Amino acid sequence: MNRFDGKVIVVTGGCRGIGKAIVEAFLNEGATVYAWDYKVPTPDEVFIEDEKLRQNVRVIQVDVTSSESVELSAQKTIEESGKVDILVNNAGITRDNLIIRMSEADWDAVLNTNLKGAFLCTKALVRSMMNQRWGRIINISSIVGEIGNAGQANYSASKAGLIGFTKSLAKELASRNILVNAIAPGYIRTAMTEKLSDEQREMFLKNIPLKREGEPSDIAKVVLFLASEDASYITGQVLNVDGGLVM
Ligand SMILES: NC(=O)c1ccc[n+]([C@@H]2O[C@H](COP(=O)([O-])OP(=O)(O)OC[C@H]3O[C@@H](n4cnc5c(N)ncnc54)[C@H](O)[C@@H]3O)[C@@H](O)[C@H]2O)c1
Repeated sequence: MNRFDGKVIVVTGGCRGIGKAIVEAFLNEGATVYAWDYKVPTPDEVFIEDEKLRQNVRVIQVDVTSSESVELSAQKTIEESGKVDILVNNAGITRDNLIIRMSEADWDAVLNTNLKGAFLCTKALVRSMMNQRWGRIINISSIVGEIGNAGQANYSASKAGLIGFTKSLAKELASRNILVNAIAPGYIRTAMTEKLSDEQREMFLKNIPLKREGEPSDIAKVVLFLASEDASYITGQVLNVDGGLVM
């Protein structure tokens, strides 16, 4: 018996990095997983190595900033699976710059993807959870949404916004047995952090008590905990997964 047998999961930004690790972790525990992503694997790319697990994953191309695209994807997903039990709002981008150089386009792109995207995906899928009176929504925020970061005013604002969104929804949806929590990752090794300079990386490592960078699987394990029955008395919380960087 697996923890997520029979459960249907949607993971946005599920085709690489942290999102892909979340998809793989749920597949390993018996779930059917829909990886919604803007950039999907090409026909000759193998997305999930294990052939047996691959049978339980579907990739849907979506732009989370577009209500039309999100609604179409939700329709496709629910038509095929009949329901969605768990939504992980993970899709996110950065467009870093100092405020005097930050363009309106960079502000809008980050807020639209990271914050409005979570709103649109939640709105499109929450009805299915409400109907069955069971659901889990897990939003991937960031520690910079809590402590800020120079050069990331847009990104930090979007991630702080996700925390407010999480707490409001936790209150709004509790009576329907839908639990809503956020995870605030610290420094995790993915394509997003590859852009950092060696100097920035050293600076992070120096300040991380556990003295290592995080792996996407470190986040995936906590997502699965929050989605599981073991977390059935936890809602409206932000869990930092950052090797102790922020405490
Ligand atoms: N890597 C870190 O250190 C770190 C730290 C804190 C928070 N996070 C957050 O974790 C999440 C995943 O980050 P990652 O490091 O895996 O990044 P990543 O860039 O490797 O992956 C992000 C995924 O989101 C998808 N995406 C982007 N825009 C989209 C859109 N409009 N519609 C649909 N999909 C879209 C991308 O195609 C990609 O697959 C993000 O929300 C990020 O902000 C990451």
